[in-house]
Amino acid sequence: MDIQVFESTDAAIWEAANIVEDLILNAGSVLGLAAGATMKPLYSELARRRRTLAPTITELHAFLLDEYIGLAPEDSRCFRNTIISDFASQVGLPEENIQSPQTARQDLHKECCRYETSLSAAEVAIQLLGIGVNGHIGFNEPGSMFDSKTRVVELSEQTRQANAHIFAPDPMPTHAITQGISTILKAKHLLVLAFGSSKALPIQQALKGPITTKVPASAIRNHSKVTVLLDAEAASLLPGC
Ligand code: GLP
Repeated sequence: MDIQVFESTDAAIWEAANIVEDLILNAGSVLGLAAGATMKPLYSELARRRRTLAPTITELHAFLLDEYIGLAPEDSRCFRNTIISDFASQVGLPEENIQSPQTARQDLHKECCRYETSLSAAEVAIQLLGIGVNGHIGFNEPGSMFDSKTRVVELSEQTRQANAHIFAPDPMPTHAITQGISTILKAKHLLVLAFGSSKALPIQQALKGPITTKVPASAIRNHSKVTVLLDAEAASLLPGC
């Protein structure tokens, strides 16, 4: 595992953007996208590189990690809509090139199977990953099995508290569809980003603690190609940092 610690978040974002830019310029690639605050500066940096990305951006295909259940498809807080506004519309990626769990469908079990099958056929080259304050990846909450596939999950209290401000005064969704841990680990390369002091403990547990379902992100240590880009605060509990 390649763990890189940067003095600033901006420096880590620059490196992440270089890796994603290389992928996009390799025409016809498949990128796994993540929503959440961590990825926003990466998407802004890629937007600044729009002209460089232009020749191949329409040939990129993308898959989302997860999606809330219970929001109207046009709700701006749906992960799909935030990805379109923060990334796709900024870099010129056509919306139809983005696959995501369709959580408004009647039969969610069938939808999870459809999404899992699409992902298996697509072969994701790089999966972007943030980490939850409780060590989740996607919405695989503590206790998620490492062989889990795309499925409906209930969000933990900690996750709901961490994201409640996005929905206030409306209630936070209680459920989501997420790629499973085994689904995420099928990507050829995992690119993990974590910034700020709230991520120090989950990063320390994921990278240096026991590999356990209690810390879903610890599963990334079972993958052969992982790059972790951290700022100094997120790395503050790692030995030697
Ligand atoms: C969220 C999402 C993930 C995200 C992670 C970290 O709740 N399920 O896609 O990567 O948890 O979120 P954030 O970057 O907002 O801290």
